Amino acid sequence: MKNIVVLVSGGGTNLQALLDAQERGEITGGKITCVISSKPDAYALERAKNHGVKGIVIARKEYADVGSYSQAILDALTAEQADLVVYAGFMTILDERVCRAFENKMMNVHPALIPSFCGKGFYGLHVHEAVLKSGVKLSGATVHFVTEVCDGGPIILQQAVPVENGDTPETLQKRIMEQAEWKILPRAVALFCQDKITVRDGIVQITD
Ligand code: GAR
Repeated sequence: MKNIVVLVSGGGTNLQALLDAQERGEITGGKITCVISSKPDAYALERAKNHGVKGIVIARKEYADVGSYSQAILDALTAEQADLVVYAGFMTILDERVCRAFENKMMNVHPALIPSFCGKGFYGLHVHEAVLKSGVKLSGATVHFVTEVCDGGPIILQQAVPVENGDTPETLQKRIMEQAEWKILPRAVALFCQDKITVRDGIVQITD
């Protein structure tokens, strides 16, 4: 059974999707054993508590730099014996030591179709604002492995979602969460826990 540790910073709707999928029995071969929050007041911690999952706060603001924060996260992941790390709305950059320690074992959900609308500064509602400004008619979500290149790691799953007339960043965010993120993140986690994901030369192959 793989230990899944989920990293969060905010509301935690993606964490909720994972907890619900687990309770429906969709994540065989793995178990969410711990949730780590970069913010003490993240509602995601309540969600973990409501499902009897241990929550830990490692507050970004208590660390002077990315290096010392990354070490603290790495120590916690080691103590938790994490087999898979999931960024679910985790808004903090970690350094390459963490990425290397969990190469192809750490995944992130991004609210756009990578390689568009991603990289530094593209997070949360900023992504949807940029999408609406550009006029593209399709957006969506991507689950990918985390590397030291921001949003640049191997792509695991993507789901497209249409942009609609009159969309605001908020309405587009909601549609992308409901139709894409909350579906492909639990699916990617389940595939990982069933050893159905392989990565060769930066390309993911799924055997389903
Ligand atoms: C989600 O839309 C997630 O894709 C995004 O932040 C939101 C968190 O919501 N993540 C990023 O932008 C990371 N680059 P949640 O806390 O309700 O899951």
